[in-house]
Amino acid sequence: MIKIAPSILAADFANLEAEVKAVQEAGADYIHFDVMDGQFVPNISIGLPVLASLRKKSDMVLDVHLMIDQPERFVEDFIKAGADIVTVHVEATNHLHRVLQQIKAAGAKCGVVLNPHTPLSLIEHVLGDVDMVLLMTVNPGFGGQKFIESVVPKIAALNEMRQARRLDFEIEIDGGVNAETAKLCIDAGADVLVAGSAIYNEPSYKDAIDSIRNASRV
Ligand code: DX5
Ligand code: ZN
Repeated sequence: MIKIAPSILAADFANLEAEVKAVQEAGADYIHFDVMDGQFVPNISIGLPVLASLRKKSDMVLDVHLMIDQPERFVEDFIKAGADIVTVHVEATNHLHRVLQQIKAAGAKCGVVLNPHTPLSLIEHVLGDVDMVLLMTVNPGFGGQKFIESVVPKIAALNEMRQARRLDFEIEIDGGVNAETAKLCIDAGADVLVAGSAIYNEPSYKDAIDSIRNASRV
């Protein structure tokens, strides 16, 4: 069963508790929480205090995507604030293996994220250390962008590497996911689909989640 992780970047931040409950009731598996620092990506979003507040109101799995430079400075803080999964960009740190160990030692699941242009070879040697690999299908920084289809073969290649090495990390896809592009991701081997605008901009969150999750069956 494909997991769906609504990105609250597209939610109404003034009603965040209700927006999270609504997608939970609609069948969401994770809440995707996008942190942007205005440096690694050309935008600023939300951070530690918002995560801590949300943690008090929700028992959902909080999947925290750190789009920040040198994430090693902050991973423990995000886990203390309530992150269940922390993903860091390979492009944002010189010490990827170390930061992944830091996340695990602090008690969360760890994952690594690749921008659309970044090759899989950069993470080959940490695949045995991660719970999740997140492949970006847009250039990170903004919701509502167009899915970059040239990343689809990378999803399939990662799935093959996972099978060949008998590993069990989840493959998550983020950016421009809707019912049409979801089919490409699922068929290539994705397990978790992040969607912001394709859920929160729709009148029925349940219909939106169902149509993304079942995209490959139609
Ligand atoms: C982009 C973020 C995404 C974003 C996805 O930088 O990492 O999680 O919210 O939004 P949509 O689904 O609208 O592309
Ligand atoms: Zn994200």
